[in-house]
Amino acid sequence: MIRAIASVLRADAHGVTLDVPEWPAHRPGQFAMLSLDPHGLHLDPLLPRPMAVFRADGGRVEFRFHVVGRGTALLAALSPGDDLGVLGPLGNGFTAPAGSGGRAILVGGGTGTASLYEFAAQLGSRARVLLGGRTRGAILGLADFEALPVDLQFATEDGSSGHRGLVTELMAPEPGDEVFACGPTAMMDAAWRLAQAAGVPCHVSLESRMACGIGICLGCVVPTDQGFRYVCTDGPVFDAERLDWKGLP
Ligand SMILES: Cc1cc2nc3c(=O)[nH]c(=O)nc-3n(C[C@H](O)[C@H](O)[C@H](O)COP(=O)(O)OP(=O)(O)OC[C@H]3O[C@@H](n4cnc5c(N)ncnc54)[C@H](O)[C@@H]3O)c2cc1C
Ligand code: FES
Repeated sequence: MIRAIASVLRADAHGVTLDVPEWPAHRPGQFAMLSLDPHGLHLDPLLPRPMAVFRADGGRVEFRFHVVGRGTALLAALSPGDDLGVLGPLGNGFTAPAGSGGRAILVGGGTGTASLYEFAAQLGSRARVLLGGRTRGAILGLADFEALPVDLQFATEDGSSGHRGLVTELMAPEPGDEVFACGPTAMMDAAWRLAQAAGVPCHVSLESRMACGIGICLGCVVPTDQGFRYVCTDGPVFDAERLDWKGLP
């Protein structure tokens, strides 16, 4: 893990790319805390924002987002050469299925698609990737996913790409498969129920609100069958069967 002040290479309403020469090796599904006030000059916003590492190539580290509030609006408004605080890589990330037989079904919804890109790239033809959004334009990283050698399908609420409806309606898990999901809680809950019905493992990456990212603030805890666990340090990826789904935000 490193704490660094990175230089912005590019930024727009869909993401930010940073130059972080000291960025270490990381696992697909890990994240970083991005601080918009790296020099502590105005303390606004006070807290960093958690973002999945979309892709990293050496010291070139990419994040993708939708603008939903002040933090992401400020990220989108950054210019090349601006400074941004980076703490990462953080969390556990995804673990590829051990066996070689079944498929890895990756299910992403909303901003959750960002944390799946590198995992899909790592799995290649073993991955069946299902991405959902309100519209085709709302699917983060869509063109990059289309360039991967994976079995890729889309679901959109308005029918602008692929299946009209919910992304989980595409899953159809079979024995031997393993499910990996990231997105809204209701979507991951539905993915877990389908995996459970098929008797296959399901891993979900949670997007709790976070203040520190390193296990200090207690802001991210979720209930599990072993008590409360930190999303930032024990997760963000959890076995779905361990979570108390009724207690998730
Ligand atoms: C491990 C992790 C990885 C993430 N990766 C990404 C990513 O790759 N791309 C991306 O776009 N977002 C990602 N998020 C979510 C992102 O951190 C938040 O959307 C962001 O912090 C919002 O900041 P803001 O200041 O723009 O919005 P705020 O003004 O803080 O909030 C705007 C709205 O978004 C809601 N919101 C804020 N944070 C969350 C959250 N964590 N979960 C659900 N709703 C939230 C608020 O309730 C509010 O309605 C990730 C979160 C986690 C924990
Ligand atoms: S974000 Fe502070 S403990 Fe997890």
